[in-house]
Amino acid sequence: MTMRRLTLIFAASALSAWAQTHSYSQEDIEEGRRRYQTNCIGCHGVDGAAIAGIDLGRGKFKRVTSDDELAKVIVEGVPGTGMPGTPLFPSRVFMLISYLRNMSDLTSRKSIAAATGEPGRGKLLFEGKAGCAGCHRILGQGGRKGPDLSETGHFLRPAEIEMSMLEPDAAYASDSPPYRAVLNGGETVLGFLLNQNSDSIQLKDDRGNLRSLLRSDLKEAGQVKSWMPSYRGQLSAQELADIIAYLGNQKGAQ
Ligand code: HEC
Ligand code: HEC
Repeated sequence: MTMRRLTLIFAASALSAWAQTHSYSQEDIEEGRRRYQTNCIGCHGVDGAAIAGIDLGRGKFKRVTSDDELAKVIVEGVPGTGMPGTPLFPSRVFMLISYLRNMSDLTSRKSIAAATGEPGRGKLLFEGKAGCAGCHRILGQGGRKGPDLSETGHFLRPAEIEMSMLEPDAAYASDSPPYRAVLNGGETVLGFLLNQNSDSIQLKDDRGNLRSLLRSDLKEAGQVKSWMPSYRGQLSAQELADIIAYLGNQKGAQ
């Protein structure tokens, strides 16, 4: 028996031992969600269905079924495919699995949006009643408190657009997280974090300006929750579908 095989069995049995004395708690699921955002979301997507034939939130896998098998795949990866192993303590693997097993509820994978959206109505909602354009620009029109959505159709699948509207925080998986800095003089700068080092922080502020702030000038600074409101319960299934159809058509300047 190879070393590799031994490690694998160890990981799985450690997980079983852990799982027998623990049940999925809210904290486990929440920690698992953070792990997922750090280690998995880039390939598997916010809804877990970005890779063909696999839907993590609905237990649709190619090879694995049980929690133990899932744990092996997470720790070891799938040799010969694009799935890397992620070396984590059994307790962390367990938290990740807690999240995967609850993901469909948490991310409302059952789409609320009606089957067919109408982009024209979506545009009217986006610019009008729903207030999206107050924060988002499309081809130069709109606000700067949120990312430019001119190319959403290239980057986000319909399920991801829906999640962005229903769960702005859960859906959030950007390289430039929402960030808030308070200067010694009292000024508050809201924006997106671009870069930071031990002396300074670079932000794109909510007016679209690049700002470089010296740490010595800051009273406080840190990542904050999204300031995008959740539209759950605020828009009907048809309205959601209309906006998704409109954004899905946004593929940049033609
Ligand atoms: C670099 C991209 C990448 C990352 C990061 C990644 N995966 Fe995967 N994952 C894949 C690919 C590609 C497959 C499909 C492998 C195949 O072809 O069978 C996959 C397959 C899987 C499967 C299905 C295995 C099966 O065949 O039944 C699970 C479960 C899984 N990944 C979970 C995770 C988890 C949890 C994380 C984070 C800890 C993660 N993955 C991180 C790319 C990735
Ligand atoms: C108060 C400002 C604000 C409003 C209003 C707002 N958003 Fe957002 N939105 C944001 C911010 C900020 C983000 C960046 C990620 C985050 O913080 O969640 C974002 C992210 C997004 C994303 C993900 C973009 C990406 O690149 O990942 C989509 C899609 C989106 N919003 C669509 C909408 C739609 C559709 C509406 C209207 C129904 C809307 N937003 C209303 C501020 C807003």
